Amino acid sequence: MSETISLRSMDSSHVRIGVIGAGFVGGAFVRSLLDPERQVALVDAATTTLEIVGVAVRDLSKPREGIPAALLTDDAVTLVTRDDVDIVVELAGGLEPAKTLIELALRRGATVVTANKALIAEHGTALAQLAHEHEADLLYEAAVAGGIPILRALRSSLAGEKINQVLGIVNGTTNFILSKMTQDNVDYDAALAQAQALGYAEADPTADVEAFDAAAKVQILSSLAIGTALVGESISREGITAVRALDVDFARRSGYVIKLIGVVERAGEHGVSRRTHPALVPIDHPLASVHGAMNAVFVEGARSGPLMWLGQGAGGEATATAVMGDVLLAARNRVSGRHDIPFSVDDRLVSVDVADLSSVFYISLDVIDEPGVLAAVAAVFGRHKISIQSMEQNGLAHDARLNFVTHEARTSDVTATLAELRTLAAVESIGACIRVIGGEA
Ligand SMILES: NC(=O)c1ccc[n+]([C@@H]2O[C@H](COP(=O)([O-])OP(=O)(O)OC[C@H]3O[C@@H](n4cnc5c(N)ncnc54)[C@H](OP(=O)(O)O)[C@@H]3O)[C@@H](O)[C@H]2O)c1
Repeated sequence: MSETISLRSMDSSHVRIGVIGAGFVGGAFVRSLLDPERQVALVDAATTTLEIVGVAVRDLSKPREGIPAALLTDDAVTLVTRDDVDIVVELAGGLEPAKTLIELALRRGATVVTANKALIAEHGTALAQLAHEHEADLLYEAAVAGGIPILRALRSSLAGEKINQVLGIVNGTTNFILSKMTQDNVDYDAALAQAQALGYAEADPTADVEAFDAAAKVQILSSLAIGTALVGESISREGITAVRALDVDFARRSGYVIKLIGVVERAGEHGVSRRTHPALVPIDHPLASVHGAMNAVFVEGARSGPLMWLGQGAGGEATATAVMGDVLLAARNRVSGRHDIPFSVDDRLVSVDVADLSSVFYISLDVIDEPGVLAAVAAVFGRHKISIQSMEQNGLAHDARLNFVTHEARTSDVTATLAELRTLAAVESIGACIRVIGGEA
């Protein structure tokens, strides 16, 4: 059995779709495409009729609300290699078997739509090339920031713009945790527990809190904003597990909010820096007001100036809207016999080592409260030519702290400073070293 969206008086073209995965996103996508109230609008947007011919899952015995049982199969390979499947929608996730299934589909000229950020970040350039060789499309709008249509904006609307910087809050879980820490004055563990209880964080939150997920999205944003290849090159990655309630409090008192940001930035003529890390964001920066599980992408174009997109970066329904947009574009392309050419990769670009970048830093030291400590610490900063913008001292005895905000300093100099500070008997530990975005206060 298959499900066809009823035809108004259209031409004889007809697009058949095979879906891999019926979880949060796949289930929402299939239900949306089969919704009788949406059929006329979808046929109009696709310029053709659309038919779901199969939905592959792992476990056929699970209940699947709104998905006819006759569409379900546990044989994804047969579904993607069927001659009559024009578009394969991969919503299973993970590297394998997703990559093999996508390659099988592309090799016979089927279009592939996917939301699989991990796979695209690692193998996107090769898969896009494979698609091109077989005159097919590979579309993945949903892979970054869920329901926010940022990739097409970069690829199409901003295609003629020189993009100097992209800053993104592209992981809802970490933004939820940091927002909770800010609003409720709770520490990281309590905020994570709340995120898990509310379904915003997985039982194993590593991919989110250690910024693997955000790094994959930075890869993809960078490819479209600047022209870097999608080849699984590692992005400088720092997560949020070390952020303390004390740091959030310092930020609040100083006019900042702490966010996990993904950064794509030009550095010099052919340099590019791609990284994820927590950052103190000035409260008047547009990203500072992005709360809870929301995502946002801030783009600085040479001529366009600042631009920002805000919205739901996850959730089955929101993400499925981006998948649907790709499917409709793919259907129109198939009807008109065209396909997108892959984005161009700029071979001259070189990754700049994060150690060579300069930034303002917030540095917090746990120290022993005794005379001479401040002078000893200041001497270390001075030896490494790190100049201090502001300093505060609080706590007593073994709970004493020194909080510094530096002027612009080279990361390698800051790293050397911290290494020397660790050798001082009066410094018990380095509590925090977090970049401040927005430059000098
Ligand atoms: N959830 C979000 O908010 C979100 C946002 C943006 C992007 N994405 C991306 O969207 C994709 C899907 O995410 P999701 O949250 O919908 O995942 P999910 O709820 O875990 O669903 C995955 C689906 O894929 C099926 N599946 C897994 N391996 C399979 C295989 N080998 N053959 C056939 N079916 C297989 C599963 O079958 P069973 O149901 O039988 O287990 C399940 O239906 C991922 O790439 C994810 O990164 C998700």
